[in-house]
Amino acid sequence: MHILLVGDPAAGKTQLLKLIAALVPRGRYVSGKGTTAAGLTATVTRDEEFMGGWVLEAGAIVLSNKSMISIDEFDKMSKEDQINLHEAMSTQTVSISKATIQATLPAQTAVVAGANPKLSRFDPMRPISEQIDIPDTLLSRFDLKFILRDVPARERDESLVDHVIKSRIAEDEIKPLIDKEFFKKYIGYVRKNVNPRINREALATCKNFFVELRSKYAGEESAAVPLTLRQFEALIRLSEASAKIRLSEEVTKEDAQRAIKLMKASIKQLGYDPETGKLDIDRAEGGVSSSKRSRIRIVMDVIDDLQKTIGKNIPVTDLISSLEEEGVDEHAAESIIREMKNKGMLFEPRSGYIQKI
Ligand SMILES: Nc1ncnc2c1ncn2[C@@H]1O[C@H](COP(=O)(O)OP(=O)(O)OP(=O)(O)O)[C@@H](O)[C@H]1O
Ligand SMILES: [Mg+2]
Repeated sequence: MHILLVGDPAAGKTQLLKLIAALVPRGRYVSGKGTTAAGLTATVTRDEEFMGGWVLEAGAIVLSNKSMISIDEFDKMSKEDQINLHEAMSTQTVSISKATIQATLPAQTAVVAGANPKLSRFDPMRPISEQIDIPDTLLSRFDLKFILRDVPARERDESLVDHVIKSRIAEDEIKPLIDKEFFKKYIGYVRKNVNPRINREALATCKNFFVELRSKYAGEESAAVPLTLRQFEALIRLSEASAKIRLSEEVTKEDAQRAIKLMKASIKQLGYDPETGKLDIDRAEGGVSSSKRSRIRIVMDVIDDLQKTIGKNIPVTDLISSLEEEGVDEHAAESIIREMKNKGMLFEPRSGYIQKI
C-alpha cells in the first residue's frame, strides 16, 4: 500500500508521518529534503578503507523491506530522485547496476508520503488535482491520496489548541485509546500470523466497482486522477488489509466494501465525483461560495473578451461597465476586482488599468 498526503503547511502531516513510522515495527521516517535517491534506494560506493573494491549500500526503502517508510517533503525531492522511486513503488524491488556491481534488492516497502501543494498552499480557485506537483506516473503508484487543508474552523481549531495545551501540561489526559506499544505488537502479530484468502463475492464487488468507475472515466480527457489497473490491485490489497486488521482468514464482501469506501473518499478529495467520474467543481473549489465563484468566472470571461479587442491592459472603467452589462452592479464589481487583486489573480500595471496574471 502506498499513501500520499498532500496538504497546506502546518496541517499536521509531519506529525502524522512520524507517528505512523513509530507505530509500525521497523518503520522509518525520512525527509525528502535531506534525502537523495541513492540514500533512499541503493548506492554503490568505493570502499577505500578495507577491501578496496566497490560496495553496495542499501538505502532506507530497502532497509525497511516488509515494513513501511514515511517520506516527508516528497515534493521537495529532486525530480530524478522521485523517478528513481518508480521501480521500488511498483515492482517492489530496487535494481542497481554500477561499476562492478549488479544487484536487485527486495523493497516490499509501503510508502506513506507527505507533500505540499505546488504553490505551498491550496488555491481555492483551482481544481485540487491541478495543484499537486508530482508526475502522473508516480501519482498512479499511490493507492490512496488524501488532501489536508488548513481551513480555519472555530470548533476544530479550539479542540486542536486544547489538545496541544493538554499535551504540554498533562500528558496523561491525551493518552490514546490504544497504547502505542500494544498497537505495534498487534501489527507485528497480524503481519506474521494472518494471511487471509479473498472470497468470490469480495472479488466480484471490487471488480464491479472498478469497471463501473472506469467506464465513467472513459470519456474524460483529463487524467488528473489516474485510474489504472493498479487501483484495482490496490482495492484487493485494501480489502485484504481490512480482513487482516480484524484477524480474519477470509476477505469478505464487507472488507471489499470498506476498501471501496476508502478509495471513493480518496478520489472525492481530489475533486472528482466517484459517482459520475466528472470533476466535481464544488468539492475541488471548496471554501468559496458558488455565487462568488461564478462572479469570478464572469470577470475572467469579460477580461478575456476585452483583451481580444483592447489589448492586454484594460481600463478599470471599461471592465466595470462591461460587467454591468453582464448583470454585476458597480459596487459588486469593484469589490470582486479588489478581491481578485488581493488574491493575485489580477494586477494593476499602471493606475486605472487592470491585467490578468
Ligand atoms: N491534527 C493535529 N493534531 C495535533 N497537532 C497538530 C495537528 N495539526 C497540526 N498540529 C501541530 O501543528 C504543528 C505543525 O504540524 P506539522 O509540522 O505536522 O505540519 P506539516 O503538515 O508537516 O507542515 P509542512 O507542510 O509545513 O511541513 C505541529 O507542531 C503540530 O503539533
Ligand atoms: Mg512537515
